[in-house]
Amino acid sequence: MNFVWNTAAMKTIVRTCSIIRQSAWMKEFSDEWKKPFLIIDSEVRRLWDGELQQIVLSASGLYIIEAREVLKNTFTLTQIWESMSAAGIHRDTPVVVIGGGLVCDIGAMAASTYMRGLKLMLVPTTLLCMVDACLGGKTGVNLAGAKNQVGTFNPAEKILISAEFLDTLPKREFRSGIAEILKTALIGDSSIRKSLEQMNMENPESEIILEIVRKCLEVKGGIVAEDLKETGKRMLLNLGHTIGHALESASEFQLSHGEAVGLGLIVEAALAVSQGGNENLPDEIRYLLKRAGLPTAINGTISEEDLYRLIDRDKKTREDGRIWSLPFDWCDCRLISLTPDQEEKILPGAMSLLKA
Ligand SMILES: NC(=O)c1ccc[n+]([C@@H]2O[C@H](COP(=O)([O-])OP(=O)(O)OC[C@H]3O[C@@H](n4cnc5c(N)ncnc54)[C@H](O)[C@@H]3O)[C@@H](O)[C@H]2O)c1
Repeated sequence: MNFVWNTAAMKTIVRTCSIIRQSAWMKEFSDEWKKPFLIIDSEVRRLWDGELQQIVLSASGLYIIEAREVLKNTFTLTQIWESMSAAGIHRDTPVVVIGGGLVCDIGAMAASTYMRGLKLMLVPTTLLCMVDACLGGKTGVNLAGAKNQVGTFNPAEKILISAEFLDTLPKREFRSGIAEILKTALIGDSSIRKSLEQMNMENPESEIILEIVRKCLEVKGGIVAEDLKETGKRMLLNLGHTIGHALESASEFQLSHGEAVGLGLIVEAALAVSQGGNENLPDEIRYLLKRAGLPTAINGTISEEDLYRLIDRDKKTREDGRIWSLPFDWCDCRLISLTPDQEEKILPGAMSLLKA
């Protein structure tokens, strides 16, 4: 399947987002993308050594990075900058990042800050990154144990999606991607829900995956095109993430990003119920998470105190309250501002849905 996506309305966000076969790769690395500085996930480098060899040999420099949340920090970022400097790259050297959401977040941040910004191509290698993280320009690193506290908005000029990378993706990581897909279905396309209900989770059909990737990028791309800097509508995309980010950090990253977002969806759907949302939604979400083999409860090792402290570090927290993206129903997500008093009343009940 060869699918090129280039929507005029999104021209400043994504000039070209292509789904290609790896055999067609090298022609993408010609002209303006020649001799890039490469940032590659260490697992991807190991597993796809042969396929990546030609690109690696043509590179101006290379930084291999281990995709662990505890390493997604300013220290690693500095190491990437130093490696760029040691490679002697210039302002016209393109940066190509090949990896999952973590490597794309930090690699894109290095590209957006080194010499005040270099041209960027992203090559997502996880499902989660293909359906979500590669698009929209958010870059970032964690700080003081809290997620993505430092970052920039820097949309990639080019995104290359090659679904072959999913062949080596561990099952747990594949499932993490399903949680972000479910989030996108809730926000803007209920046909994705049907695809998730039909998909064989053990042995997913590649046509269904590619169709889902395309639909998710359309939903996210449409929102980001209207509000790149997240001053309004884009906050809807944080669905599941206010609780999800806090759970991810409170679990000391034992929960993967997608697992934590999936749990966040249940809690935030319960918050929506308290505001008049569809009462069946928390169970419908739980059903789809279970079907995908994702967790629907947390164990006792996550301290509630840590969790509430981390929710307070959420970037949508304002002095007089917090803005939540809440799912009232399929394709009916709303931005709702809750005061600390309101949260105190409804959050414990919603969180209790996660008790096993
Ligand atoms: N910028 C955004 O808009 C955005 C959106 C969602 C998530 N994120 C960020 O993305 C990160 C999560 O990303 P992720 O779920 O893609 O996981 P990840 O990047 O942490 O990768 C997960 C694991 O999969 C391995 N891996 C990657 N590709 C592989 C492949 N093809 N074959 C085998 N192994 C492979 C990695 O080495 C790692 O061990 C979080 O840090 C999150 O904050 C960013």
